[in-house]
Amino acid sequence: MLLDFATLSSLERYKLFIGLVFPRPIALISTRSENGVNNCAPFSFFNVLSEDPPVVIVSFGPRGDGTPKHTIKNILRTGEFVVNLVDEAIANGMHISADEIAESESEFDTAGFTPAPCVEVKHPRIAEAPASFECRTLKHIELVPGRDFVFGEVRRLHVRDGLIDPQTKRVSDAYRPVGRLYANRYCTTRQRFSLPGRLPD
Ligand SMILES: Cc1cc2nc3c(=O)[nH]c(=O)nc-3n(C[C@H](O)[C@H](O)[C@H](O)COP(=O)(O)O)c2cc1C
Repeated sequence: MLLDFATLSSLERYKLFIGLVFPRPIALISTRSENGVNNCAPFSFFNVLSEDPPVVIVSFGPRGDGTPKHTIKNILRTGEFVVNLVDEAIANGMHISADEIAESESEFDTAGFTPAPCVEVKHPRIAEAPASFECRTLKHIELVPGRDFVFGEVRRLHVRDGLIDPQTKRVSDAYRPVGRLYANRYCTTRQRFSLPGRLPD
């Protein structure tokens, strides 16, 4: 089968992207609204792009009603955000936090997350997350109306105690991240394997 992307609907392109390009890492982004409501939501059009400078990228589409997502509004207003990573322990809360609730309500409450302070950014991080990156917006690109790309520079990393070797900075196998597949489907990273040689541990 050969598909011409120009003739596909955006929903068809979305289904093909998320059905073929997986597992995708999940950025559970936490921000605070201008009215002081703690917000969080998952984003899997997300990745790290470089370590020098330390850069993450996230892609935002509109909410179901066509309005901007609360997360991108809060990022554009403040120039800051927090990327919390998702492991098995917080997967259920992450999934609940994707519900498109009113701006006056907090996904921290619906998902059962605890806000914890950051050092450099004014938004809260999620205390239960295995790791949280405090980010400053490096660049914002409105690619077309309703599709925003945000590049963030990572300023600080909070990590759950015991997950990182303080000397080598290697991350322990006890870290159990969850990946996004498609629709309501996710995967764990329990079936790991090694190939011979080449890269040092
Ligand atoms: C695992 C997962 C990944 C998602 N990835 C994205 C994404 O990359 N971009 C996006 O715009 N929405 C994505 N969504 C949808 C948002 O999380 C959802 O619209 C959320 O309600 C936005 O909340 P906000 O309005 O508080 O920002 C994803 C949802 C789930 C469950």
